[in-house]
Amino acid sequence: MVYLETFGCQMNELDSSRMIGALAEIGFRRTDNPGAAEVILINTCAVRDKAEHKLYSMLGRFRELKRERPGLVIGVAGCVAQRDSAALLKRAPYVDIVFGTHNVHRLKDFLDKAATDAGVVVETAFRDALEPEEYAFNEVAADARAFVAIMRGCNNFCAYCIVPYTRGRELSRRSADIIAEIERLARSGAAEVTLVGQNVNSYGANSGGDCSFPELLRKASMTAGIKRVRFMTSHPKDISDELIDAFSEAPNLCRHMHLPVQSGSDGILKKMRRGYTRDEYAAKARRIRSLYPDMSITSDIIVGFPGEGDKDFEDTLGLISDLRFDNIFSFMYSPRPGTEAAAFKDHVPAEVKAERLRLLQEAQRGITIARNGALVGTMQEVMIEGDSKTNARMTSGRTRCGRIVNFPAPDGYREALGATIRVMITGAYANSLAGEFAGQGQGRTPGQPALLNGLAWAAAAQQRDGLSNR
Ligand code: SAH
Ligand code: SF4
Ligand code: F3S
Repeated sequence: MVYLETFGCQMNELDSSRMIGALAEIGFRRTDNPGAAEVILINTCAVRDKAEHKLYSMLGRFRELKRERPGLVIGVAGCVAQRDSAALLKRAPYVDIVFGTHNVHRLKDFLDKAATDAGVVVETAFRDALEPEEYAFNEVAADARAFVAIMRGCNNFCAYCIVPYTRGRELSRRSADIIAEIERLARSGAAEVTLVGQNVNSYGANSGGDCSFPELLRKASMTAGIKRVRFMTSHPKDISDELIDAFSEAPNLCRHMHLPVQSGSDGILKKMRRGYTRDEYAAKARRIRSLYPDMSITSDIIVGFPGEGDKDFEDTLGLISDLRFDNIFSFMYSPRPGTEAAAFKDHVPAEVKAERLRLLQEAQRGITIARNGALVGTMQEVMIEGDSKTNARMTSGRTRCGRIVNFPAPDGYREALGATIRVMITGAYANSLAGEFAGQGQGRTPGQPALLNGLAWAAAAQQRDGLSNR
């Protein structure tokens, strides 16, 4: 059995799904008890210091298991492994396999090698090809959703960010390979796909891609069986009119855009090398909202970037109250060794960062609750994803704008993962909505009753035998 922990972003979630799928081929089942596993894998994130701390305390616990069972294989993948395998092995010499972000598809070879070699297996080379076989084992999660990588890497080098160093240069996959993968996932029960990349708007603008991103979205949204298409993350500087138009052309493109703004201060945006001003960003966000009033726009914000003064932070607070994001993810700046900003001298004290984070989160909480509240009394299409995490008697799903809705499901619907239904929204909180079942939805696949689709998906999910990564 294999135990797998995943840190970080949707790219890592996807890579974890590929690992579980590849191991299932050679007979491994997933367990959520590390004590019962012959193989323990940790898929790591290096974007902030906190995730690295968690990794090392977790490794410490697994070391104890290895003392009891020397045959246990411990593998570390992802961005920490990619960035500095030597430092990792120095701190955790009992690790057996270290492999980086471009070598996920070779996990089986690494396990073979670890079984015969006495030494540690390390593979962190960058590769400049992206072959369809690399994604052969990407799986549909139990909730009928799947991630599809459309590109890899990032060329933006924002001053604070480690990602270009851990994922390498941008490379797009051929559109035919991407569509073939979506078709395969749809046949295995996916009702929703999320096209992922660090910077999806540059799909096709680098080597490998053969159409524009909006064109890829149109193609993806026409795949039989797929009811919902999402994507992330788009860089605000690259949002084109063609992309904005795609929302009116592709009916199953969900009404949600994650558009990380990072700061509301022009001076800080410039130092971050984001490539847009506050006004340029705001104009794009307003245009999207005016064309699609039901569009949810979420964002990422970093507080305490080097040199951020009180005025800069007030500009950020001003921006969120102007634009009223549906939600934000906010972080304290964390210096990443090797990035441009780590060498800046004007670091903001930790307690100032913490206070700014608190103020920002408090301000956004009110906005989020108000925006969620505006949906009370509306009818929403919800895709059923499973039992509610907070109340086992409730069923949980997501609106097209990406909000979680908890509702009591009638008999037969509870297990219909991937089915779309109609829900009347009756309550709004900071992290979810409450609703009442109001009937079967249209689905987005003409001619197919949504519930029947859902039951087929539920059957496919059962066949997958709980191997999903969520
Ligand atoms: N590719 C995506 C984001 C990748 S990282 C994009 O460009 O938008 C996800 C988020 O982590 C970023 O949007 C940023 O807000 C945050 N982040 C990245 N590096 C960070 C750092 N050094 N300290 C704090 N937050 C950081
Ligand atoms: Fe990091 Fe910037 Fe690339 Fe996003 S666009 S991954 S924040 S360097
Ligand atoms: Fe983390 Fe790597 Fe993603 S650093 S955010 S797992 S690209």
